[in-house]
Amino acid sequence: MLTPTFLLLSLLAQVFAHVTPYVRTNSQKVGDTKISWSTKCKALAGESATPFKCANFSVPLDYTKPKSTKTLDLTLVRVDATRKPVKGSVLFNPGGPGTSGLNFVLENAQELMTILGGHFNLIGFDPRGINNTLPFQCYKDQYKVTSFGSSNASDVTLGQQFAQAEIQALQCQAATKDIGGLVGTAFVARDMAQIVDALGEDGMLRYWGFSYGTVLGSTFSAMFPEKVDKVVLDGVANVHEYYAGLYNSDFLSLDDVVAGFYSGCFASRDCVLAKQAQNPDDLAQKVDALLENLKYNPIPLYTKASPALITYDTVKTAMWGAMSQPKTWPSWADGLNLLLAGNLTGFYEVLSAFSKPPDQSLEALYGIECGEQSLKVENLTDLAPEIAALAASSVWGGFDFGLSNAIQCVRWKQKAKEIYSGDWTIQTKNPIMFIGNTYDPVTPMVSAKNVSASFQSSVFLQHNGYGHTSLAQPGLCSARAVSAYFNEGVLPASDTICQHDDPLFSGETWQQALAPLSHNGTKASITKKDNEDALLLAALGKVGQSVHSHRK
Ligand SMILES: *[C@@H]1O[C@H](CO)[C@@H](O)[C@H](O)[C@H]1NC(C)=O
Ligand SMILES: *[C@@H]1O[C@H](CO)[C@@H](O)[C@H](O)[C@H]1NC(C)=O
Ligand SMILES: *[C@@H]1O[C@H](CO)[C@@H](O)[C@H](O)[C@H]1NC(C)=O
Ligand SMILES: *[C@@H]1O[C@H](CO)[C@@H](O)[C@H](O)[C@H]1NC(C)=O
Ligand SMILES: *[C@@H]1O[C@H](CO)[C@@H](O)[C@H](O)[C@H]1NC(C)=O
Ligand SMILES: *[C@@H]1O[C@H](CO)[C@@H](O)[C@H](O)[C@H]1NC(C)=O
Ligand SMILES: *[C@@H]1O[C@H](CO)[C@@H](O)[C@H](O)[C@H]1NC(C)=O
Repeated sequence: MLTPTFLLLSLLAQVFAHVTPYVRTNSQKVGDTKISWSTKCKALAGESATPFKCANFSVPLDYTKPKSTKTLDLTLVRVDATRKPVKGSVLFNPGGPGTSGLNFVLENAQELMTILGGHFNLIGFDPRGINNTLPFQCYKDQYKVTSFGSSNASDVTLGQQFAQAEIQALQCQAATKDIGGLVGTAFVARDMAQIVDALGEDGMLRYWGFSYGTVLGSTFSAMFPEKVDKVVLDGVANVHEYYAGLYNSDFLSLDDVVAGFYSGCFASRDCVLAKQAQNPDDLAQKVDALLENLKYNPIPLYTKASPALITYDTVKTAMWGAMSQPKTWPSWADGLNLLLAGNLTGFYEVLSAFSKPPDQSLEALYGIECGEQSLKVENLTDLAPEIAALAASSVWGGFDFGLSNAIQCVRWKQKAKEIYSGDWTIQTKNPIMFIGNTYDPVTPMVSAKNVSASFQSSVFLQHNGYGHTSLAQPGLCSARAVSAYFNEGVLPASDTICQHDDPLFSGETWQQALAPLSHNGTKASITKKDNEDALLLAALGKVGQSVHSHRK
């Protein structure tokens, strides 16, 4: 229901959006280095073997209060380019929201250098709400926040999730009153503008964002179109639906991905799960029947380590996670095979590897997404249109996983102090590059095309692979297109389709996989170029494991 007050407020919000100029809020000149980099970064080192620098960089805490002197320290890390000439710095966001961008860069520094060719410094930071930056935490000491799981686990689940969302919203509000309004995407975009202004370069953004990182990248590019130098958005979420709190497009490719899992298994010599059925469709039906049976007959498992219940929810949620990462398909197929064969301890071992306990990133996700998504409802009846749309978007998981995502935010009590509400027809200073996978279970290709249509002169590259983002089933063609874009400013021709170089259900190393392609199949025949290609593919694959979907 749109009340007159609501309409007036949203009108005012739009006016406000237009009178608030999206410009730098300090008087600093581009080219002035305002960041003092230090090499004393032991506390951050984690597992990084690559040398890096770090800095504390002050930004305004609240951009809606220009007169306030309160600041926020962002911890930045920088890995220096390994080759001359240095062409500037690239910022990253690995998705979630909730995943630490700082750790992403430290853990993948060498690989990112390999992929981009060594001429760029790499900059990592934790956006507001996440890990080291203004951590959004509803519960002290431990993470009690609930990951909602499958909404169709029973016919009472939806109601319970809806009620649980109310409790969670109230608990988070009580615990994070002071920061709830400060962790939104628009503020993070402003932080990024401050960072690029202070790097001592050209004041322009070079950025590669994955998954939710595409929402951040789209928002930055809409707020600061004149600061866009090179922006790659990979695994693109429909930014319009994101801010609306709708998930209608997200699962549009999920059924195709699940079908690809079964057919890939049948096409592979090594996938024992295929022995359970006559053909991929039979196999799909068999697994679906197994899941359906688990709804009513969960399996108790008493192991030495701990007792456990194998339920519809745990199995299906794990499978849903696996759909984002084709590299894990052989292992998940082994697991399903054990379950169908009744080897429960064997299955449980596999299942455990696919389930991770919630951590701070989940709370950060709620804090960031829920505070800026507009869909709020009083009762489930009001959610009926969204329920119908989600159920229709994917037979396999639209209802189960779409709804649990939507419901998390519809009772939220906090609101980001700034939400980008300006125009979505944007001419950026330089063209943005969008990448969409043919088969991405959470950010389908249609969403990449949709957001690309908002940015005049942007290009869309289709990566013909499975999984979440172009790194899930990587290929040399897409990687080279990204590198050419950053290094030479060369864009792929529009409607370019890049193939992957990573067969499904292949346990081979990259070297083994590549050797027979170009030569006579003996190990001795691997050339230097093959080795470089293999290294590049391995680098892409490793970074791909650190990229996260914002769909829990
Ligand atoms: C948070 O940051 C600390 C220190 O940088 C790091 O050790 C830890 O792994 C990070 N946590 C996550 C979830 O990234
Ligand atoms: C950043 O601030 C933290 C906390 O005050 C401090 O421990 C750390 O040494 C600082 N890092 C740098 C590079 O100045
Ligand atoms: C939900 O579960 C019921 C009972 O298992 C099933 O009949 C129905 O098709 C499911 N609905 C959706 C939208 O998946
Ligand atoms: C169950 O699976 C595990 C792991 O694959 C295997 O080691 C074990 O031998 C299997 N048990 C039986 C009874 O087949
Ligand atoms: C649901 O909430 C709306 C207000 O948003 C109200 O008009 C409607 O009567 C409620 N429906 C039920 C079944 O409670
Ligand atoms: C993009 O998606 C939004 C939200 O679903 C929709 O309203 C809009 O028409 C789409 N735009 C294009 C160009 O497809
Ligand atoms: C295989 O290729 C290598 C290098 O390209 C070459 O030296 C070798 O003679 C080839 N072997 C055969 C059996 O053709």
